[in-house]
Amino acid sequence: MDAIDVIRAKRDGGTLTPDQIDWAVDAYTRGAIAEEQMAALAMAILLNGMTRAEVARWTDAMIRSGERMDWSSLDRPTTDKHSTGGVGDKITLPLAPLVAACGAAVPQLSGRGLGHTGGTLDKLESIPGWRASLSNTEMLDVLRTAGAVVCAAGGGLAPADRKLYALRDVTGTVESIPLIASSIMSKKIAEGTGALVLDVKVGSGAFMKTVENARELAETMVAIGTDNGLRTTALLTAMDRPLGNAVGNAVEVAESVEVLAGGGPPDVVELTLTLAREMLAAAGLTDKDPADALKDGSAMDVWRRMITAQGGDPDAPLPSARENHTVTAPASGVLTSLDAYGVGVAAWRLGAGRARKEDPVSFAAGITCHAKPGDTVTEGQPLLTLHTDDETRLPRALESLDGAYEIEASGTPTLHPLIIDRIV
Ligand code: URA
Repeated sequence: MDAIDVIRAKRDGGTLTPDQIDWAVDAYTRGAIAEEQMAALAMAILLNGMTRAEVARWTDAMIRSGERMDWSSLDRPTTDKHSTGGVGDKITLPLAPLVAACGAAVPQLSGRGLGHTGGTLDKLESIPGWRASLSNTEMLDVLRTAGAVVCAAGGGLAPADRKLYALRDVTGTVESIPLIASSIMSKKIAEGTGALVLDVKVGSGAFMKTVENARELAETMVAIGTDNGLRTTALLTAMDRPLGNAVGNAVEVAESVEVLAGGGPPDVVELTLTLAREMLAAAGLTDKDPADALKDGSAMDVWRRMITAQGGDPDAPLPSARENHTVTAPASGVLTSLDAYGVGVAAWRLGAGRARKEDPVSFAAGITCHAKPGDTVTEGQPLLTLHTDDETRLPRALESLDGAYEIEASGTPTLHPLIIDRIV
């Protein structure tokens, strides 16, 4: 087979055959297709799309490029959640132990943040001693001891996606629904979970800016899961404002612990419980109400076991920032907007995120929101506190907050509902 023929077929709006797809993914993983050829093919896919059958085959080829994990030795059903990423999205932290406390096993392979969206592993690494990299045997041990494990994907899982994602990142080909859907689903299917709930974020702080695009992505991923025998559902959820009050690393861990202790911001609690119910239903476990596991401390017990099993100290103080700068309300009225993207970029510029994969993050950096859209504020009251270890980062972070919030004498914010839709 010839790479140029495959590129031309997709460039001219054709449908790739299963053999062409299998060959292209395998040859690229082996290095037999050059980076520039795969870049051209990815651009042709971005411009001309893929049929459902092509996306399914492409995903399958990426799964087959590496190992497939197997949790059949566990005595509980496995279930997992994947979020397409957003600002203040710490939901995995309370959710994984909560679902485990209700009887499921949660084997969650997570990622690091890139750009303005945070990464679950970066957040958890702010806990002194906690380790993201585990061998498959260690993963199984943590799952057996705690019921939930959150760790980095090993190099053996979907290596085709690892290589292709890095290429897409630098060739303007990330924003393709077939490529995003196959990238996410290849990793989740290879991870070996028995059920999957997708949290597809919608709004300025998300990949998908409109409900229409998010719905198309969700439907594509649900179809891939279903075609592969994985029970998959998706929720479309709001990412036009930050989720919760904390955006960053250690500050998000602290907020997650509040949720596990039975408190926390109402939106974080509502989304955590909604996703927990979806995950448990998908795993066939409906006898326990997750709200009870937050109240009775059983979710917190799992959290402590999970953190300890991965070398972390759940009682250690979390890193705190050297500089804390408060932005106050310039007028009295109703906070009608707090833009997720603006807040996410500000947190990133304070050091919470990274610009390149190899950059370190600052665990203490981030933002605390003192008011959320719809709240009444008084001139001079704290609106946002910016946390950083490096005060030279403040001016650029403040710049990205210019126009990111609005206070009006009266009015109601126009926001997406927290849970926009459910796709099955
Ligand atoms: N996350 C992924 O894992 N892959 C994509 O293509 C986009 C987001």
